[in-house]
Amino acid sequence: MSITLGKNDWWKGAVAYQIYPRSFADSNGDGIGDLAGIASKLDYLADLGVDVLWLSPVYKSPQDDNGYDISDYEDIDPLFGSLDEMRSLIAETHKRGMKLVMDLVVNHTSDEHPWFVESRSSLTSPKRDWYIWRDPVDGHEPTGHQAAFSGSVWQFDELTGQYFLHIFSKKQPDLNWENPHVRSAVYKMMNWWLEQGVDGFRMDVINLISKRQDFTDGDDLFGPWMNGPRIHEFLQEMNREVLRDKGLITVGEMPGCTVELAQEYTGEDRHELNMVFTFEHMDLDTKPGGFGKWDLVPFTVPALKENFNKWQKGLETVGWNSLYWNNHDQPRIVSRWGNDSPEHRVQSAKALGTILHLMRGTPYVYQGEEIGMTNHGYTTLDKYRDLETLNWAAEAAQQGIPLSTVIHAVGYKGRDNARTPVQWDDSANAGFTTGTPWIDVPENYRKINAAAAVADPDSVFHHYKALIRLRHNFDVVVNGSFDMLWPGHEQLFAYERRLGAQTMTVVVNFSNDSVDVPADVNGEVILGRKSARLEPWGFFVTLAN
Ligand code: NOJ
Repeated sequence: MSITLGKNDWWKGAVAYQIYPRSFADSNGDGIGDLAGIASKLDYLADLGVDVLWLSPVYKSPQDDNGYDISDYEDIDPLFGSLDEMRSLIAETHKRGMKLVMDLVVNHTSDEHPWFVESRSSLTSPKRDWYIWRDPVDGHEPTGHQAAFSGSVWQFDELTGQYFLHIFSKKQPDLNWENPHVRSAVYKMMNWWLEQGVDGFRMDVINLISKRQDFTDGDDLFGPWMNGPRIHEFLQEMNREVLRDKGLITVGEMPGCTVELAQEYTGEDRHELNMVFTFEHMDLDTKPGGFGKWDLVPFTVPALKENFNKWQKGLETVGWNSLYWNNHDQPRIVSRWGNDSPEHRVQSAKALGTILHLMRGTPYVYQGEEIGMTNHGYTTLDKYRDLETLNWAAEAAQQGIPLSTVIHAVGYKGRDNARTPVQWDDSANAGFTTGTPWIDVPENYRKINAAAAVADPDSVFHHYKALIRLRHNFDVVVNGSFDMLWPGHEQLFAYERRLGAQTMTVVVNFSNDSVDVPADVNGEVILGRKSARLEPWGFFVTLAN
């Protein structure tokens, strides 16, 4: 890296890569990806040039929510391998100059975690207060709040006649962070992982850990649970007890986080987190006040630009951005806002990557994004595995929402779009497994696969490599200011980055039509093809001194 950054802010010049282990690479033919599978692809990842690998959860888990329901934080689920394999994966990752980040899921545990088993055992259990228990109100749930994965957030427990809170599935009871013993148990576990050599944490829904304690009724899904009154206190405590001055990377997943709150969560002198995952840009095709994430509205380029501009400017002098199009909860960007037809797929995937990677912030690449993988294209519900999708489809059927609306919505937005196996080559099951994959491989794997992309110098893969190199080589990409160009333009996404005398200009045609560029752009072209009229999804990047 030719950018000079300190021990505590190296992540500003880094690119991260998310691995969803279940779908990455299967070494033993059981149809589920594993640690040995990941180890076998480390050279591919090093060749791509990423600096940090973030692993979605591989801890012991009943797998109700594919590992986001943890029953032992200090062991690896046998589905994925062993603790020894994990230690060797960390060492092999480090050997190749990359870092490894664990997914920290501590808003909730599995209901099979010994903490919860003990908590639920009696009203007087010493761990009763480790979770959130309430008496029934008039024989019903204490409040009418809905869980993220359908149904009430309250689950009745016969044994003690009380309800426990679960913002996600009923197998994911929420921990009670008001209890200091819970907090110190979490910090102890985090420190244990640091001793194993991990380099940081991606923190699952971390702004939900402090909850308003009144729990009054309200319509908002996450209303009483988000950004609660003690959130900054808890994050600062965690920072003191675990994170500070160790040169780690931390990113907090935060539904309902505004740019103003992000300034607080990521402001350097506040000692909380390095960066957050915002949801605002991901919600632009969701109808405000509709029936949640499935109620779709058309997305527009100006609205996206307005949103990115707000975040780029808002975190320009205080805090830091993360940048992402994809993760295991979002559909594939090339199918969502790009164009996954054979004619435009490669070019639109490159255009979208260009927009994201040259902004200010730390970009996250989600497995398969670097080869332009698409949504799965399932047309029947029996192909789906995700509990969020399946629970909602059942609820929608009860509410009389037509099946065709449901199939359309889950085909566009469902999480399984991102969870199909990585398409490694054109052999059976895309080279992901020699067994039967836990979820079907999309039919397009014969054309869209990593082997083909690595062999083709014009592929999305080589374009992502070039984008990563730009971040590593040009200080202006890391530290430059940001200014949106032609903000109201319906099709062009263009911006300028400036540092000292240097200006980098990025011009991207975010559309299926040819578009005139409104003004001449100075400088040497360092990526793409400069033209006064850009072809569909065409782009160029210039550098002027
Ligand atoms: C956010 C994670 O990204 C998602 O996959 C999970 O289902 C929920 N948090 C609950 O842990």
